[in-house]
Amino acid sequence: MSETRTSVAVRERVEALREDLRRHEHLYYVLDAPEISDAEYDARMNELRKLEAAHPELHSADSPTQRVGGKPAEGFKKAQHSRPMLSLDNAYSPEELADWDRRVHELADGLPVAYVAELKMDGLSVALRYGPASHGGARLEMGLTRGDGQTGEDVTTNIRTIRSVPLTIPGPVLKKLDLPQSLEVRGEAVMSAAAFARLNEEREQQGLPPAVNPRNAAAGTLRTLEPSIVATRRLDVYAYFLLVDGEYWPRGQRATLDVLAALGFRVNPHRRLVQTVEQMTAFIDDAEAKRETLGYEIDGVVLKVDAHATQLRLGYTGRAPRWAIAYKFTARAGTTKVHNITVQVGRTGKLTPVAELEPVFIGGTTVSRATLHNADFIERLGLKLGDWVKVERGGDVIPKVVEVVHDADHPRGKHSFHFPTECPECGSTVVRAEGEVDFRCVNADCPAKLRESLLHFGRREVMNIEGLGEAVVQQLLERKMVRGVADLYKLTVEELAGLERFAEKSATALVEQIERSKKAGLARVLMGLGIRFVGERTAELLAEEFGSMDALMTASADELERVEEVGPRIAEAIREFFAQEKNRALVEHLRAAGVEMTAEKKKRSTQLAGLTFVLTGTLPTMTRDEAEAHIVAAGGKAVGSVSKKTSYVVAGTEAGSKLDKARALGVPVLDEAGLLKLLQNTE
Ligand code: IVH
Repeated sequence: MSETRTSVAVRERVEALREDLRRHEHLYYVLDAPEISDAEYDARMNELRKLEAAHPELHSADSPTQRVGGKPAEGFKKAQHSRPMLSLDNAYSPEELADWDRRVHELADGLPVAYVAELKMDGLSVALRYGPASHGGARLEMGLTRGDGQTGEDVTTNIRTIRSVPLTIPGPVLKKLDLPQSLEVRGEAVMSAAAFARLNEEREQQGLPPAVNPRNAAAGTLRTLEPSIVATRRLDVYAYFLLVDGEYWPRGQRATLDVLAALGFRVNPHRRLVQTVEQMTAFIDDAEAKRETLGYEIDGVVLKVDAHATQLRLGYTGRAPRWAIAYKFTARAGTTKVHNITVQVGRTGKLTPVAELEPVFIGGTTVSRATLHNADFIERLGLKLGDWVKVERGGDVIPKVVEVVHDADHPRGKHSFHFPTECPECGSTVVRAEGEVDFRCVNADCPAKLRESLLHFGRREVMNIEGLGEAVVQQLLERKMVRGVADLYKLTVEELAGLERFAEKSATALVEQIERSKKAGLARVLMGLGIRFVGERTAELLAEEFGSMDALMTASADELERVEEVGPRIAEAIREFFAQEKNRALVEHLRAAGVEMTAEKKKRSTQLAGLTFVLTGTLPTMTRDEAEAHIVAAGGKAVGSVSKKTSYVVAGTEAGSKLDKARALGVPVLDEAGLLKLLQNTE
């Protein structure tokens, strides 16, 4: 087939869509002020994907479609920083700030001293390098982690998936601000409290231990070798430095932040110019007061000398600038005594040990219970009843025990804790499956499982039944008014009004809520069923792909695995779930009650639907990420290893064992031209 000629109209449409999507991304991810609905955004994105798939010659690494990249070849390359990424000295009290302020004034020796106060976000610093783009603007060329400060890891593919990082900066914007096409932006990559909570919920559903805090989760995410995972985790980058030619942009810190916002970066709105220690502490007090409501973690405040000339005069110590300091909040941790350890049984029968504590005031709340995760954790801590422990609280995360404290004031406890061998709720045996950390109750009818499934079903993220709280569920079970989630739909106002402390008004409201939940949609129903490993995101993807419960229930493992993020383990769990008679009966009961079990099927490009590709070696014009993005955009799947089921292996130069394996198994091998042809022909 001859090379496709792109009509002017197509090229213009592609450009217009890209520009339009960039604008809406900025409105949504940076300014928090969307102008169009998510569905409208998706529709425009899909149109662009389709056009790009049909016209590979229009491919551009900066297109908004490239935010979800493919796999980077292997590990991460290292790259030298344009100038070292230093650290900050810390202050822990107003006195220490006053000392620092005095030193700054001395060293400034008459040059102006004013400070920009910023929030100290608890994430990890990143450097974003932009270089000249053909349209006279700048394009993101590289994203680096801090690493050891001298060299960082090249995490460009992952950085590209972060929506608050512009992939391009338009030429006219640079011109207006008198900036060159090559520049570097530094800032903090953070995971929001909501994204962190979602991540841990999914980890729990997958039987994995929870991530410790949003900072670790953000760092782990940026260093993931799977950009599509990074894209789902929703990191944000808040920009705070601008470098030109490896030097700080010379107009001072306050102007830097304004310029970064004008360039399209997310800049923390909580910033203030301050002069005195009193003004600094007022800003710090404000920050502490706002801390709980920001939606992301901060661990202090950073103060930076504003004027560039003053910064230059103050200079650097070995590890930090003398012109900036971090005021650190005191950690939200407390020390208290463990009176007892109880064990909770979850929806899946999982047993979670919980420390019952002498109440302690931490970061504005009284904490009297803290999670101990699992039996191994207790063993690792060597925890005994009566021990003193350090308890930490972060964001809206459940308080957790982090270590045993033992000194003259805190004597050791005496009694060892023995993890129960029987379920504390029903007395059945508990077992730990091979390779798992958690013990589970084997009784399918354990009352705790039923109670927790009902509570789960009603949760805001699931069927969103307001009023279905613990007290109500407990009574419904005690009075045998429900034996499973489907029975909720049979409850009447009269029955509910008979519950303790439940007036007719609440009863009516609850019945209305239950009624309303029938329209929650397939994804939420799927979550409500409590299939192992199927969390919010997976449920949404499954719903979009299959469009109905019936299609999903009869799907083969292969069909399930075609869904993004569904691998053999999740596919197996879904099949196993629907293979059980009682689960199919549950679905039928819900359906009979009038619960809707359909979703709008996502209209995606289907040229390569059902085909699996493996990429190996170096392709002549495309990076592997780009090739993968084309395949995925056309409805195909790109995987890492060759098997009999692989449809094609796409091989470039220096292809290794994957190519050998393809030949041995008789899997067809394509070169880049062959792949492009396939992408065009199947249109
Ligand atoms: S300025 C010379 N500004 O805190 C390096 N850092 O403890 C100065 N951080 O490594 C960095 N928010 O990861 C700066 N508004 C902010 C910050 C911030 C968070 C982090 C950053 C840095 C660490 C130093």
